[in-house]
Amino acid sequence: MIRIHVVRNDNAHLYAAELEQYFRGRYRVYVLERGWKDLDRPDGREIDQFDTKEAVHLLAIENQQVVGGHRFNPSTGPTLISEIFPHLSLAPLVRSADVFETTRLWVAKEKRGRYAHPSVESLLLAGTMEFALALRLSKIRVVFETWWVPRFQSLGWKLHPLGLPQDINGLNCIAVTKDVTEAAWIETCLKRSVPGSVLVWNGTARPFYRLPELIPAVA
Ligand code: COA
Repeated sequence: MIRIHVVRNDNAHLYAAELEQYFRGRYRVYVLERGWKDLDRPDGREIDQFDTKEAVHLLAIENQQVVGGHRFNPSTGPTLISEIFPHLSLAPLVRSADVFETTRLWVAKEKRGRYAHPSVESLLLAGTMEFALALRLSKIRVVFETWWVPRFQSLGWKLHPLGLPQDINGLNCIAVTKDVTEAAWIETCLKRSVPGSVLVWNGTARPFYRLPELIPAVA
């Protein structure tokens, strides 16, 4: 089964080959497919100023192949919203250890939709909420295109807009916070057929956390 690996600065050495695939995968998706030319680099990797030592990468890995990912940045440091899009928030941005910002949620083109059951995206979404619960975060902050709003709401995620939607390079975007709750994790798993925990903490400290049982949730 595809698993979602937590890759941080302290275990990145164990994932050198996978990180290389991950940054090249991001390049294929964001620069070549989505045409975000500002992210173009001659080395064929999509790496930006937020790929810091503090960043955490969730890598969807199937048979040593990276098929998707998602990035977390602590709100105590620079983030995409704080540095590039602060105008998307009407109020001053929270900088707190229990709030992280996420960016770069992607799945390789050939692995989308019904490629796997549960889908790679479903595993990444469940893994995102699992990671946030594991770290005892209260909120995840994100800027995304507005089409994501009903997609997350349909999975039971509670979103709070930070400001009004605005055009960014022709895309209708909004900054929001999402509440980190066991209820959202349960609903995501149930609606997307994710059977339980999906995270792998290989070579990095796994915080003590216990996820709710899914079977009582169904009953
Ligand atoms: N605009 C509007 N809707 C989009 C979209 C876009 N750019 N990209 C995907 N969607 C919608 C699809 O229309 C589809 O809708 P449906 O479920 O009603 O059919 C749904 O999202 C699922 O998309 P699909 O391409 O089948 O992929 P998936 O569910 O396996 O993965 C993504 C979804 C977004 C992870 C995947 O499409 C992807 O990696 N896209 C490129 C990266 C990206 O744009 N990420 C978001 C910004 S960081």
